[in-house]
Amino acid sequence: MVVRSLGVMLAGVVAFVMLGGAAQAGTPAPERMRELVHMVRQDCGSCHGLTLQGGLGPALTPQALRDKPVEALVITVMAGRPGTPMPPFRGILSEADAAWVIEQLMRGFPEDGGTVPAAALR
Ligand code: HEC
Repeated sequence: MVVRSLGVMLAGVVAFVMLGGAAQAGTPAPERMRELVHMVRQDCGSCHGLTLQGGLGPALTPQALRDKPVEALVITVMAGRPGTPMPPFRGILSEADAAWVIEQLMRGFPEDGGTVPAAALR
């Protein structure tokens, strides 16, 4: 009896988390995530280095971004950095796209053509 209601409770929690995730201000769909991974590796990589260790632009590795506020990084991607080569991606990326990209960069960015990690789908 106790075990059964625990099960029901757990199912409720899982459903809540899943619904919450989907309802979150437009978390990109899995197909869009794959496009974003490709884009970051190709386009962002042309300046930030193919391994994102830095080039013309600074490294976008978890270590490099660790102490930086997420919102500021999202704004940098959307608005660019005037007076530097960092271009604005507003119009190419939605804010949800940019937020997802920053989140993945901070975790260690997925390989292009690889599977999007399960953690990223949450
Ligand atoms: C044309 C070259 C170029 C491209 C393309 C480019 N960046 Fe940048 N990016 C830069 C430069 C240069 C800077 C450093 C600006 C400065 O001096 O503050 C920068 C800064 C940043 C920062 C801030 C890093 C920090 O440590 O504060 C982030 C985040 C960033 N870029 C993400 C991206 C993402 C994501 C993309 C692709 C969607 C991208 N950039 C594409 C050149 C580029």
